[in-house]
Amino acid sequence: MLEEALAAVEAASDLQELQTVRVRYLGKKGELTRGLKRLGSLPPEERREAGRRINEDKQAVERAIQERRQALERDVLEAQLESERVDVTLPGTRFNAGGLHLLTRVTNRLLDVFTALGYEVAVGPELETDHYNFEALNFPEEHPARDEQDTFWTTDGRLLRTHTSPMQVRYMEMHKPPFKVVVPGKVFRNEAVDTTHEAQFHQLEALVVGERITMADLRGAIEEMAGALFGAGTRTRLQPSFFPFVEPGAEFAIHWTNPRSRRQEWLELGGCGMVHPNVFGAVGYRGVTGFAFGFGIERLALVPYGLPDIRAFYQGDLRVLRQFRGAL
Ligand code: DAH
Repeated sequence: MLEEALAAVEAASDLQELQTVRVRYLGKKGELTRGLKRLGSLPPEERREAGRRINEDKQAVERAIQERRQALERDVLEAQLESERVDVTLPGTRFNAGGLHLLTRVTNRLLDVFTALGYEVAVGPELETDHYNFEALNFPEEHPARDEQDTFWTTDGRLLRTHTSPMQVRYMEMHKPPFKVVVPGKVFRNEAVDTTHEAQFHQLEALVVGERITMADLRGAIEEMAGALFGAGTRTRLQPSFFPFVEPGAEFAIHWTNPRSRRQEWLELGGCGMVHPNVFGAVGYRGVTGFAFGFGIERLALVPYGLPDIRAFYQGDLRVLRQFRGAL
């Protein structure tokens, strides 16, 4: 009986089965328990010895069950650990995270530079009127400079702004000098698209007005920007030019080292000058001077990053965009 019970304990393959074995041998009606009940029918001189043996057997089976239970529980735990095992050496799952567009990054960077210098940031409408885009900026009626801007006109006589300069006028109408403001924004030109021209691009406009603002302040602002973008001491250049809304007017360029060719080059950026008295006249300003400048953001993004084609900014080609995830 003992052998049989021990074999059954050993053979139990899970905790449930072990419990069944336990009931079968040690339960109230179990086979070993029944032996104890039968003691009464033995002659008294044999009872003691028989009882002792049965109790020993019961204890032996009890111990065997105890050991078997621990072994089975260990198996259960190990199986669970195995099934929940995590291989920390497996490569992680990459998820597709969006990122800011290179133009957005460059724009944000520029705004950081100028807000650090105390400039406000303003934005204005892309759908403009002749008045703000040309008239108030001192473009005379019939002046050829209007044609140079290749304007998209709407059927109701309005236009898509050809530059961010109209915001000079709008801002002055809404504010009192002195102030410093920058205006980022989208502009439109009705011209043939090629590697350096798009019908839609972005500009940043700056306008500073106060009592004694001079050309030296203009120069200083451009140098600050160049230094912040390309490193302290970056040289800048102003060359005389004409824009109806400034006098004198100039084109400005930044001297920088092209990282690809390692050559020092002049990067022609945009136009600038001292605000024309007629522009101040259009907004009723008196007794102040000011400077303005404006330039294309694409150009500032395109050249330093060595992109060969301005159209790359608008095609949403991930192979292009991914390269600039961490740019600037
Ligand atoms: N608005 C001009 C353009 O798009 C650029 C420009 C020239 C802006 C001179 C200015 C400026 O503020 O003073 O071609």
